[in-house]
Amino acid sequence: MQNFREITSNVYWIGGSDKRLSLFENLFPIPRGVSYNSYFISDEKSAVIDTVDESIKDIFIENVKELTKKKTLDYIVVQHMEPDHSSALLELLSHYPNATLVMNAKTQTLFEQFFGKTESKIKLVADGETLNLGKRSLKFIMAPMVHWPEVMLSYEITDGILFSADAFGSFGAIEGAIFDYEADFDCGYIQEMRRYYANIVGKYGAQVLKVLKTAESLDIKMICPLHGLILKDKLSLILDKYGKWASYLPEEKGALIIYASMYNHTKKVAFKIADELNKQNIKVNLYDVSNTDVSYLISEIFKFSHVILASVTYNGGIYPKMQNLIEDIKALNIVNRTFYFVENGSWAPASARLMKTSLETMKNTVLSDNILSIRSSLKETDMDKLNNFIDLLTKDING
Ligand code: FEO
Repeated sequence: MQNFREITSNVYWIGGSDKRLSLFENLFPIPRGVSYNSYFISDEKSAVIDTVDESIKDIFIENVKELTKKKTLDYIVVQHMEPDHSSALLELLSHYPNATLVMNAKTQTLFEQFFGKTESKIKLVADGETLNLGKRSLKFIMAPMVHWPEVMLSYEITDGILFSADAFGSFGAIEGAIFDYEADFDCGYIQEMRRYYANIVGKYGAQVLKVLKTAESLDIKMICPLHGLILKDKLSLILDKYGKWASYLPEEKGALIIYASMYNHTKKVAFKIADELNKQNIKVNLYDVSNTDVSYLISEIFKFSHVILASVTYNGGIYPKMQNLIEDIKALNIVNRTFYFVENGSWAPASARLMKTSLETMKNTVLSDNILSIRSSLKETDMDKLNNFIDLLTKDING
């Protein structure tokens, strides 16, 4: 049964989606599923660009068989060895034993680490090298750490198609719409694209900037990532977003409030701050760290200029879920942000100082000394210091 789609003359999307998987990488919630994209080029020589995850292997193999129509498959281009794109590689090779694997030297090392030595033909390619398929040619662009060291992209010269591996991908299944202009792009897709970028590729901003620099020199008409929609109409929007994300520049001047509260007292302080900032026409988003997966919080930190962390003091330290968020911020190296701290404690409030100290290793990060400290609950006697905290924060955001 046909389950592929021609995306331009003789170039096909041959991927599929998993709607049953709950955690991508066994870590990130994917309520809208995930797609594993693969592409087929039919020319004088035929080529498959990356394979797929185990979960959709059968439909993928069917797709390739249907498109090769029992003829040979000449090349399998391996852009990325992470198993969500390489689980079907050996099975594809078993159907097409004469196909040549096109990869770089680092890919070969990873291939052998996962699968052992292979009898298959291997064509090793380097940065800038081209593979002629007939009417079409692929030019390979090394993109180490976007998001593994072996990653390479493939630029199809005739139609200006960038096969971009994990770059420009997103969480979310392909559910009929395959191009950006067919989907409800502005309502939800960009959020999931940001969350995917921030959590999967976010640590590697410098390497993504190098890819963007290379992209500037190419005439790109279409981007075909390994996850999510094919980008055609939204290219300038997405390239602009990627420029900001890779540079760790906030998209929104505003306040992101994340609170850790056990009995609603710290929550009340967080809501009060949100309410007052909103009255000042400052864009505010607010989350409870305990019931929001950290991947969504990381995504929101990529978006906002100012982050207010409000935490109850717990066992003399930071509330564990807040501590986990802070460790993730550091691991993903989200710089160029301003942090404000609110603490609560009934006998020895210490979480603000501890949160601030935890983030001191971050470069190009402002950690405000304007700390708001509460004892047990927000009271009338706290209002002066609360208003002072909000005034300084407001001036900072508007400044
Ligand atoms: Fe979608 Fe890095 O694998």
